[in-house]
Amino acid sequence: MRKPVIAGNWKMYKTVSESVETILSLKPMVANANHCEVVVAPVFTALKTVADRLEGSNIQVSGQNCSTEMEYGAHTGEVAAVMLRDVGCTHVIVGHSERREHYFETDSMINRKAQAALAADLTVILCVGETLSQRDQGNAERVVSGQLSGGLSGLTASDLARIIVAYEPVWAIGTGRTATPEQAQEMHAFIRRVFTQRHSEETAHGLRILYGGSVKPDNIAGLMRKEDVDGALVGGASLDAETFAGIVNYDR
Ligand code: PGA
Repeated sequence: MRKPVIAGNWKMYKTVSESVETILSLKPMVANANHCEVVVAPVFTALKTVADRLEGSNIQVSGQNCSTEMEYGAHTGEVAAVMLRDVGCTHVIVGHSERREHYFETDSMINRKAQAALAADLTVILCVGETLSQRDQGNAERVVSGQLSGGLSGLTASDLARIIVAYEPVWAIGTGRTATPEQAQEMHAFIRRVFTQRHSEETAHGLRILYGGSVKPDNIAGLMRKEDVDGALVGGASLDAETFAGIVNYDR
């Protein structure tokens, strides 16, 4: 049985005090959520405070990005994966479509970030997903397959056990236009088949594949009922504690 993961990506929202306020409300609302792993991804500056305040709770903390570089060095403005681990993170998101699109991250950079994160003992949430025009041209699977091979290049079977894939169709992010459960299932099943072919049945079977893109309390249950949907990466709806708790505590 794959344990679902519900992760909140806070993007560039919330100061430290706003972040603390959110997690203090969230904590009791999800305290009994044993059916899934709960993760929040605040901005860099709030990570340590949030992780400290969540110690001993069932909520884990993720970075939203990390450096491609493993070693300390002259990399102004970068934060190393090991530094995320140092402040209490257990996860890091890599390859989010906003980073690919606005910060020109390539699959090979994303691969280096994943390698650095794994070396720092973090679980990687690797985001993949096609744009609307890629989907309309019938290229969605090819795009996702390429992002998986580029992002996961050179990883061993034990590395892959620490990878979570988040399928986030770009056309569904922040648009209010969620993929239907059937569209999500179709791509998730494809991703699992790709893992079976490229890696192993066992790796594919254990892989958690999250759906992301306009997930809300009223559409999560339908998505989670699909066989290959193992959780969600939630943006906008994770900013409010009650709304996010409504997603975590979806109708099972
Ligand atoms: P959204 O964002 O839930 O606001 O669509 C999802 C994401 O970017 O991870």
